[in-house]
Amino acid sequence: MCGIIGCAGRGDATLDTLVHGLSKLEYRGYDSAGVALAGADVEVVKKAGELDALREALETDSPAGTVGIGHTRWSTHGPPTDANAHPHQDCTGDVAVVHNGIIENYQALRDELSEDHEFLSDTDTEVVPHLIEDALAAGAEPEAAVREAVARLEGSYAVAVVISGVDAVFAARNDSPLVLGIADDAHYLASDVPAFRAFTDRVVYLDDGEFARITADEWTVTTLEGSAVDKSVSRVEWDAEETGKSGYDHFMLKEIHEQPRALRQCLQGRVDEMRGQVDLDGLERLQPTRVQFVACGTSYHAALYAVHLFQQAGVPAQAFLASEYATSPPPLDGVVVGVSQSGETADTLSALRVARRRGAKTVAVTNTVGSTMARECDEALFIRAGPEIGVAASKTFASQQAALNLLALATVGADDARAVIAALRDLPGDVQSVLDSTRAEEIAEEYLDSDAYFFIGRGLQYPVALEGALKMKEITYEHAEGFAAGELKHGPLALVTENTPVFAVVTGDGEQARKTIGNVKEVEARDAPVVAVTDGQSDVERYADHVLEIPETHPRTAAVLANVQLQLVSYHTANTLGRPIDKPRNLAKSVTVE
Ligand code: F6R
Repeated sequence: MCGIIGCAGRGDATLDTLVHGLSKLEYRGYDSAGVALAGADVEVVKKAGELDALREALETDSPAGTVGIGHTRWSTHGPPTDANAHPHQDCTGDVAVVHNGIIENYQALRDELSEDHEFLSDTDTEVVPHLIEDALAAGAEPEAAVREAVARLEGSYAVAVVISGVDAVFAARNDSPLVLGIADDAHYLASDVPAFRAFTDRVVYLDDGEFARITADEWTVTTLEGSAVDKSVSRVEWDAEETGKSGYDHFMLKEIHEQPRALRQCLQGRVDEMRGQVDLDGLERLQPTRVQFVACGTSYHAALYAVHLFQQAGVPAQAFLASEYATSPPPLDGVVVGVSQSGETADTLSALRVARRRGAKTVAVTNTVGSTMARECDEALFIRAGPEIGVAASKTFASQQAALNLLALATVGADDARAVIAALRDLPGDVQSVLDSTRAEEIAEEYLDSDAYFFIGRGLQYPVALEGALKMKEITYEHAEGFAAGELKHGPLALVTENTPVFAVVTGDGEQARKTIGNVKEVEARDAPVVAVTDGQSDVERYADHVLEIPETHPRTAAVLANVQLQLVSYHTANTLGRPIDKPRNLAKSVTVE
């Protein structure tokens, strides 16, 4: 999704600060980028393509000014061209605007403005500078002109604006993230903290309907109408270095390898092994009689996993795709839990708002302190995975699984709580041993030219199969599907050939393992190669062409370990195919439109 950076500073550092900020927002996914600096005039440079195209343009055309805005665009209205790249300007060239979100009434505004204004792009955003232009022409002061223009917008937006001759950046938000950064000699605005984390750890999270003004010396946050708002300043707990690659070829590989540490952080101070209890700062009082989960993508798979944890404790639970829940909500039932790495996913926010409007108590399980979801929900449980830059979720899935175990243990318990807690304690070490001993790269090479990749699992391992397939398709661009193991024979088996490897997750030696082995035999009989992901407790190895081993553990933590093996298979397949692993085509890290 689009990324915004704004900076009001001193001297000539602003342009570099903006470009640095854009590089830190690249992970969100984008197809063009641009900057605008304001001094006596506003100068804009913008380019379709990667940030390097903008850097190259800036070598010959380097705008000057102490206040500026920058943008990485992920196309929604119009293709990725120079003209559609942000910032957008008014007819006089005195106003420049960057925007993240979708302005739903843009067509009506554009029709209204078209008589007197010339439009140069296909974007919804371009109405904003022209609205500001009209307000300025009618005599409004710059800040009032921006407020007036923003008040006309419907839909989702985070906008940042510079105006010639004004040493401030103005910004407003509704349904799109925006955070303000405070340093001694400069102030920042951005879609996400990594954009300015190198310069400060002091941040203010803006809420919907708020308006910010930053200069080099001061910052203010008010309502859009101008009333004062009491905002608190938070400290970010992670370092700027945590958003670097630390010698790994890709952020995704680094983040896969960070899982032991991420899991330790998730569990730290929350588990009392002696008493067999979990302490989640009061969340244990929740004690739901029923739970509905809402989430998207990988987080939805974590939600499907969590359903088992609550159902095993006798508490009815269901997981819903947030986009479906938001538009056709089921009868409300107990507590509604939103699972989201970013805490900004529009579909999930929308589902939680629907639930809240109908009277539900809501809980956010998220990685992002200060995110909209964390602030809007009644309760929040942070998964503490640290920043995840690779577009494909990896370490945050493992941390979601761990955090959801804690949530289940704390609120509804488990018959074998002590065994789960012991397995969680060992989990970081077990993940490390998978990372140290994996044969995933070899298997990725072996099956490189396959027609498709299938993943099967049962019970707790079914969401792992779905996640294995999602990871494979999004970073390799190969066809992949995940199935409940027992469902294969009801249709998907028709797709199975000697050129479609089937990854079967088989853990334990109980009925589920035995039945999944039956399904493995079905695909083996159709000559499909089988890769078993197993803890070695069953005899699945007899029917498999290859084995990816995981340590023997509790079934709940086995699902975390099996997924690590599958992440690595996808990573190495994508790497050998030369795919842009950290920024897969068409995808965005934080999906802030519905
Ligand atoms: C897949 C992936 C996406 C996200 C989904 C939800 O690797 O990253 O499927 O899981 O867009 O995002 P969050 O968790 O931020 O709500």
